Amino acid sequence: MPFRICFVCLGNICRSPIAEAVMRALLAADGLTDEVQVSSAGTGDWHIGEGADERAVAVLARHGYDASAHRAQQMVADAFADNDLVIAMDRANLAALRKLAPAGEEGKLRLLRDFDPDAPGTDVPDPYYGGDEGFDEVLTMVERACHALLEQVRAELQRD
Ligand code: 4NP
Repeated sequence: MPFRICFVCLGNICRSPIAEAVMRALLAADGLTDEVQVSSAGTGDWHIGEGADERAVAVLARHGYDASAHRAQQMVADAFADNDLVIAMDRANLAALRKLAPAGEEGKLRLLRDFDPDAPGTDVPDPYYGGDEGFDEVLTMVERACHALLEQVRAELQRD
């Protein structure tokens, strides 16, 4: 059974698809594609079935990542059982996930930037209503946190 990670934001069209694409690429570069499975979801239902925001797809493509196949889905309580880590992009997402989590599953929750030693406790800001530069900022934050997350996942895999 692979180790399973789900990234969660609000709409599942900007931040969490960026995190999913970055993490998938880092895992592939490390030869861990079969060992670790990544997905993403949103706490909201507005964009279910849609592709990622074109600004997210574009910033990813400029940096060599691919999110062209993304389809947005909503996080549901049952999905906790299907994941080892559920990683929120900001503190509002984390609060929503704490409410959604079935009893005993709260321990799977993390805040993405808690993995970044330079940014614990902080949010990946919602770029949806801003300009393109917000998407570049999100990608930089996500890359830093995902490199640190990869180290932790590697350590986790070695323990098993
Ligand atoms: P995301 O960004 O949570 O990073 O996917 C958003 C996308 C859509 C909305 C809000 C945030 N929205 O309100 O539709």
